[in-house]
Amino acid sequence: MAEIKTFKGTESSSDPFNVSYWKKRWEENETGFHRTEINPFLLRHIEIVTGQNLTPEPIGDIAQFQENSNKTWFVPLCGKTMDIPYLLSQGFRVFGLEAAKLAIEALDQEHSLCLVYNEETKLFTGADGLLQIYMGDLFTCPIEDFGPFDYVWDRGSFVALEYPFRSSYIELMKRALKKSDGSWYNFKYLLESFLYDKSIYEGPPRSVDDNDIEEFFKPWCSIKLIETDPLPPDNRVATVVGEEVFARIYFIQPPN
Ligand SMILES: C[S@@+](CC[C@H](N)C(=O)[O-])C[C@H]1O[C@@H](n2cnc3c(N)ncnc32)[C@H](O)[C@@H]1O
Repeated sequence: MAEIKTFKGTESSSDPFNVSYWKKRWEENETGFHRTEINPFLLRHIEIVTGQNLTPEPIGDIAQFQENSNKTWFVPLCGKTMDIPYLLSQGFRVFGLEAAKLAIEALDQEHSLCLVYNEETKLFTGADGLLQIYMGDLFTCPIEDFGPFDYVWDRGSFVALEYPFRSSYIELMKRALKKSDGSWYNFKYLLESFLYDKSIYEGPPRSVDDNDIEEFFKPWCSIKLIETDPLPPDNRVATVVGEEVFARIYFIQPPN
């Protein structure tokens, strides 16, 4: 098993263990999960979600930019991902969720998003009103107040959570994707996951195998594996796991 650095954090009722661990990582600059480019899986599969053949460049078609501002992406556990400025550059609204203030401040500074924080709502708002980021714990966020969302991009979120938190994630997602009458909204959702032998590395990132898909996703949605990509041995995740790792991308929609 690869050597795992442990982050002690300072657990409290407002900072449960899972949040405290990640805040500590941001404080200690242990953010190897952050990519300095737009996620290639998102670029490859954004068309299946949006129906548009979008490039990494900001969208040039003003009418399409405006049309896209009717659609909102939910980006859970967003960190300071480059995918947020990318989605904004295509005209979409983005709702991010992140517990670490340091991450949100870095995102703001690195992309000049002019975020303004409202203490009462716990929301950062910026990018000409297209971006909102809820600062707090995924599991206590009143997500139904902000959804339902058109699209979801989960990169480094489901796989970041400790195994016992997975059903809470699913409950939150269902609340984010249902209308107020309890019926499903017509959402489209991309999930990046990793597959490796769970007995050799405890994560994060945590492995998602076929049994996990059966247990956590199949009961409530339609889920399709759309890409399986063996990671090169020098990939960060492959290095930390120390064994063969596959990236697997799923496309998720409401149940048929
Ligand atoms: C593996 S990182 C992924 C970040 C981002 N999605 C990316 O692709 O770079 C996980 C992020 O989730 C945040 N996080 C972890 N647990 C959380 C929780 N319970 N509530 C809110 N944010 C959390 C961490 O601070 C961290 O920024």
